[in-house]
Amino acid sequence: MHIKRHAIAPSLLAADFLNLAAEAEMVNNSEADLLHLDVMDGRFVPNISFGLPVIRDINKVCTKPLDVHLMIVEPEKYISDFRNAGADIITVHYEACPHLHRTIQQIKETGAQAGVALNPHTPVALLEDILEDVDLVCLMSVNPGFGGQKFIYQTLLKISKLKSMIIERNLHARIEIDGGVGLQNAQKILEAGADILVAGSSVFKSESPTDSISRLKAIGSEVFEV
Ligand code: DX5
Ligand code: ZN
Repeated sequence: MHIKRHAIAPSLLAADFLNLAAEAEMVNNSEADLLHLDVMDGRFVPNISFGLPVIRDINKVCTKPLDVHLMIVEPEKYISDFRNAGADIITVHYEACPHLHRTIQQIKETGAQAGVALNPHTPVALLEDILEDVDLVCLMSVNPGFGGQKFIYQTLLKISKLKSMIIERNLHARIEIDGGVGLQNAQKILEAGADILVAGSSVFKSESPTDSISRLKAIGSEVFEV
């Protein structure tokens, strides 16, 4: 699977859980590039969301690649389970992986793309020795655990720094921004160097989720037209 630049990944966390099939259908019929799925364990983050059975069922109806964000401790125990459930991208947290290199290889061995996520306080410089092994870096622009939080603007600086590291070394890793992303800040985030925008509330809680996805996508086209 090729991850496009300027991709939009709606986050199912903000969807109506009583109507997941309809929500997945909306995503299928939209310009979304990926579907972002937030798995929380109540240990790595102070919240519990959903897990394997939900992802397995979403995979039956969703035609977009599944971007699974594991906010769990000991993610290495469940990599193949998430892959078998349908994950196309599996992202683990830097802060949850003492043997990150091994975990990243483990993800790749399943055939999924491998991502690493950083909490807001974790510097991008810590990725120096793993950057060439990952397909995606997810920079958290809120403290993970909940949807609907305010974007932390310091993230813009982290995006630029990470982009320089990737360009200088001619690497292929994509930069994904997760948390508080919406129409009000998408342009700045893309201009700083982001490739993938995760958007939960700004899509699913909006009047027309399909339109919101199209509008986010259009901002990407505008930024990169010049
Ligand atoms: C937060 C999650 C995000 C969340 C984003 O821990 O990782 O993916 O769904 O939600 P919004 O876009 O509402 O901030
Ligand atoms: Zn997420």
